[in-house]
Amino acid sequence: MAIQSILKMGDPRLLRISRPVTEFGEGLQSLLRDMLDTMAAVDGAGLAAPQIGEDLRVVIFGSGKPNPRYPNAPIIEQTVLINPEVEVLDSSVETDWEGCLSVPGMRGSVPRFQKIRYRAQDANGLWFEREASGFHARVVQHECDHLDGILYPMRMPDMSQWGFVDALPKGVSGVAQLTGR
Ligand code: NI
Repeated sequence: MAIQSILKMGDPRLLRISRPVTEFGEGLQSLLRDMLDTMAAVDGAGLAAPQIGEDLRVVIFGSGKPNPRYPNAPIIEQTVLINPEVEVLDSSVETDWEGCLSVPGMRGSVPRFQKIRYRAQDANGLWFEREASGFHARVVQHECDHLDGILYPMRMPDMSQWGFVDALPKGVSGVAQLTGR
């Protein structure tokens, strides 16, 4: 196990445009292990390499299990995306509540494209693609934004819909059962 500390909003390293991965050797495998350990330790829905200070286009999400931070979300299988590309399949947008491990204790209402196709390399460098909608599409857009230095508050059109989990009304979607993270 190598749990890394997660950078918080305000750290300039979260604002960089990350570099493409070109080497699929032991360095990358070690980074992936650290990311998986770190995400599991904090019940993250996803994690991007810049969040642990690595300037590389690497994202992980999903655990194949229910996530206590998003109790109403569907289960997503554990996925590694290297050098991901996101294509919008439908211009319709859905607004829902999101959190981020780099913005601890808060949730905000963020518009995201409802339906996307994403293409990426896996841990061995093989390209694959998937279509996703709803929460799955939201997670991919959120994590891939990290690779371009974008945090979810930068996508919010209405800052009144942003707050601390322990202060937001309990009826707010996805917030009711949360434990403050
Ligand atoms: Ni995030």
